[in-house]
Amino acid sequence: MSQVLDGKAHADRMLEEVRQGVEARLAQGKRAPALAVVLVGDDPASHVYVRNKTAACAKVGIRSLEHRLAADTPQAALDALIDQLNADPGVDGILVQLPLPQGLDAKRALHRISPAKDVDGFHPVNQGLLLEGLPGLRPCTPTACMSLLAHHGVALKGLRAVVLGRSEIVGKPMALMLLEQHATVTIAHSRTKDLPAVCREADLLVAAVGRPGLVEGSWIKPGAVVVDVGINRVEDEALGAAIFAAEPKKLETLRAKGGVLCGDVRFGEAMAVASAVTPVPGGVGPLTIAGLLANTLAASNQDA
Ligand code: GUN
Repeated sequence: MSQVLDGKAHADRMLEEVRQGVEARLAQGKRAPALAVVLVGDDPASHVYVRNKTAACAKVGIRSLEHRLAADTPQAALDALIDQLNADPGVDGILVQLPLPQGLDAKRALHRISPAKDVDGFHPVNQGLLLEGLPGLRPCTPTACMSLLAHHGVALKGLRAVVLGRSEIVGKPMALMLLEQHATVTIAHSRTKDLPAVCREADLLVAAVGRPGLVEGSWIKPGAVVVDVGINRVEDEALGAAIFAAEPKKLETLRAKGGVLCGDVRFGEAMAVASAVTPVPGGVGPLTIAGLLANTLAASNQDA
């Protein structure tokens, strides 16, 4: 039986460090870090994320400034708000919650954020710094995953790592961070030939594709470490019966509640093969917000 890598516990450790960093700023007579969150439209999941971010900010002493815009906001108005936040010396970090409503260009908005305030780490300047291995604001989820792996003493040097997924938010930056730590990295994706065989080569498998239960136990090398970034809601009972064959309680929950959260990895099957696995929920999810707040603190200390 493998170890469950507790993301919530590690997020709490990261948040405690941020809280101490905020206290240290205040002790030096500086103001609390401030994070501006821009929420456009009515996406219910985005509202939940933003609420969670605001609550986490409050816990560590970061000010959160919420800006809500209507779904039909023109791009020029969003541009103007970003310009205003860029120019505001009382704002350290700017986060434009994704996805944006149809008709708004997310890339244009993200590129407009000042790289010094880009706490998501999505601006091309910050992506370029990461590519070069230089300090900058880095994407929250992969940064926090690296922190979790370091905490659990996973030795990355020379390790064969497979990153499943090539998104700008997780897959690509995760691959670069692993490479920086001297892992041998393969990025696999939906067009990769014989995906199971590629995954089976991995000493470290990071799954970030948003496909519930894609990774079966037979895809995992015995003793591998598995990081599951996917957060998917499964409602279909037939799909649930297939992916929760080794997790009868999950299937029961699905039947009782009409849906259940699950990762990209079949957790029950992975637990029988891997040496360590992150669960969903309670794995990578809580780490992302901790990474965001660590970035906000870092952004506020850039002038120090
Ligand atoms: N929506 C889902 N994940 C993210 C994220 O990491 N950053 C932003 N800005 N929006 C998101």
